[in-house]
Amino acid sequence: MEKRWPFLHMVVFLGLSEICLAAIQNVGSILPEFQGSHMNWFYKNGMFLLSKSREFAFGFKATEKDTTLVQLVVIYVPSYTVVWTANRAQAVSNSDRFVFDENGNAFLRKGETVVWSTNTSGKGVSMMELQDTGNLVLLTNDSRIIWQSFSHPTDTLLPNQNLTEGMKLISEPNSINNLTNFLEIKSGDVILSAGFETPQPYWSIKKESRRIINKVGDVVSSAYLSSNSWRFYDQNKALLWQFIFAQDSDVNATWIAVLGSDGFIIFYNLQSGGSSSGASTTKIPQDFCSTPEPCDSYNICSGDNKCHCPLVLGSHQNCKPGIVSPCNESELPIELVKADDISNYFALGFLQPSLKTDLNVCKASCLGNCSCLAMFFHISSGNCFLLDEVGSFQESDTDSGFVSYITMMDQGKLEDILDSKLRIDEHDETILTAIKVALWCIQEDMSLRPSMTKVVQMLEGLCTVPKPPIFFKSNSRERTSSGQSDSNSDAYPSADRLSGPR
Ligand SMILES: *[C@@H]1O[C@H](CO)[C@@H](O)[C@H](O)[C@H]1NC(C)=O
Ligand SMILES: *[C@@H]1O[C@H](CO)[C@@H](O)[C@H](O)[C@H]1NC(C)=O
Ligand SMILES: *[C@@H]1O[C@H](CO)[C@@H](O)[C@H](O)[C@H]1NC(C)=O
Ligand SMILES: *[C@@H]1O[C@H](CO)[C@@H](O)[C@H](O)[C@H]1NC(C)=O
Ligand SMILES: *[C@@H]1O[C@H](CO)[C@@H](O)[C@H](O)[C@H]1NC(C)=O
Ligand SMILES: *[C@@H]1O[C@H](CO)[C@@H](O)[C@H](O)[C@H]1NC(C)=O
Ligand SMILES: *[C@@H]1O[C@H](CO)[C@@H](O)[C@H](O)[C@H]1NC(C)=O
Repeated sequence: MEKRWPFLHMVVFLGLSEICLAAIQNVGSILPEFQGSHMNWFYKNGMFLLSKSREFAFGFKATEKDTTLVQLVVIYVPSYTVVWTANRAQAVSNSDRFVFDENGNAFLRKGETVVWSTNTSGKGVSMMELQDTGNLVLLTNDSRIIWQSFSHPTDTLLPNQNLTEGMKLISEPNSINNLTNFLEIKSGDVILSAGFETPQPYWSIKKESRRIINKVGDVVSSAYLSSNSWRFYDQNKALLWQFIFAQDSDVNATWIAVLGSDGFIIFYNLQSGGSSSGASTTKIPQDFCSTPEPCDSYNICSGDNKCHCPLVLGSHQNCKPGIVSPCNESELPIELVKADDISNYFALGFLQPSLKTDLNVCKASCLGNCSCLAMFFHISSGNCFLLDEVGSFQESDTDSGFVSYITMMDQGKLEDILDSKLRIDEHDETILTAIKVALWCIQEDMSLRPSMTKVVQMLEGLCTVPKPPIFFKSNSRERTSSGQSDSNSDAYPSADRLSGPR
């Protein structure tokens, strides 16, 4: 019995200290030398700092995908809506600590590594405050702001949160295609872009027909939400334009803007639930087909919000041209095929043309540029657009004035490579087999080429044909899917492996 007491004391002591920490939920601000993990505030829903009004809170919240992982967030308390996230890409465990250290730096650990930091050591920070606006700020003892969450937005803008040059609103990656979209102020315009390796813009305030013009001028330098309107200002703080997104001008409504993974900016009234129930019907951009990937890439988005495969790709696997990065697949015969049912593309109204020329030169420059996956030519202006990544295409009711071409694997040339005696029916499975065999036969590395006997066996269907290393490369944004045969030695029908009976 006696021996147990010291141990029990320790348990009680540890337990109490955790409970004491848990009991402290700070209102307004916290001081340096503060730290703790999700576990410490488990009974307070993870929240350790409330704004004075108690409308906003700063703390830990479990992620939707994995409830054992947490993120450091600012939430709107009544609806539990996340309006800012510190560690978006790297969620931590519920024992990882947030630290506001004696040097005025605030950071979050994941194990021993720092996954997020305000980088404010030695800058005179004496306090962290969560303001009633939802802005998390680090202040000096004379109330100067050294760092603020409003300057490092995630996908949400709160009322009066000033969007300025250098700031970016970035959507969560789309769960299907992994694409992110971003909003920024650039060259005096506010631009929304698809986050491809070469970004492709799809909306800008200057080209928005729904904006209200207050003043002549065309260089935006900041913008923020005020009641039911998004206001755009020039360098002298003069109001240039307004975008009214809701009829209801209730001064008490808290409208926020969220850039979604579907590419739309949606406006929500925080008071009415924060979710879709409080959303305005006005969205940016206006149309479903004006976003980067309302349909799978290469599919055509049509006016009635439907998706279909272009005719030229109709016979292809998954409606894809069979090539993803022609620069890495230079062995493949490539052709540029006219797509009559594609008349537009979401980025065309916003991209600078690659060159101004005639149709033949435009086609030649796409064929001569290994990163060109699609080409659009505007007949009347001679503007030639080369795309190195492809989202959804558009079909427009009115004539867009564009002709479009897609880079595809030249199946005709591939067929030439095959034994001319082989019967080819386009809709026959054997064509795929034959192409695969042909690709094995043209490997630069001789040791990878199968023997004639093996070729016959494969063509006759007596044995399966492994995927050749350059065939149907997986999309670079979906590296996990297929085509990674390089790492899988079983996939090579090498000379010894394939040299069956002759
Ligand atoms: C802090 O600095 C690191 C490295 O310089 C940077 O990656 C990170 O984005 C900075 N954090 C903030 C919140 O600015
Ligand atoms: C504020 O901080 C400065 C240095 O960071 C110090 O010199 C000054 O005494 C402080 N003032 C107060 C009121 O604490
Ligand atoms: C927004 O930012 C701009 C540029 O930094 C600044 O001139 C302006 O005063 C700010 N507006 C508000 C309302 O904070
Ligand atoms: C706005 O809020 C104030 C106080 O919270 C309230 O008295 C007023 O009626 C509200 N106005 C509207 C239009 O709801
Ligand atoms: C293409 O090759 C480049 C370098 O040669 C490489 O960085 C890139 O990842 C390759 N892309 C694909 C899709 O294999
Ligand atoms: C090739 O096309 C891409 C866009 O598809 C463009 O960015 C690049 O500048 C072009 N390269 C040349 C040499 O024209
Ligand atoms: C999505 O993209 C990110 C960054 O570009 C990458 O790290 C991640 O592996 C991708 N995920 C999938 C499922 O492709």
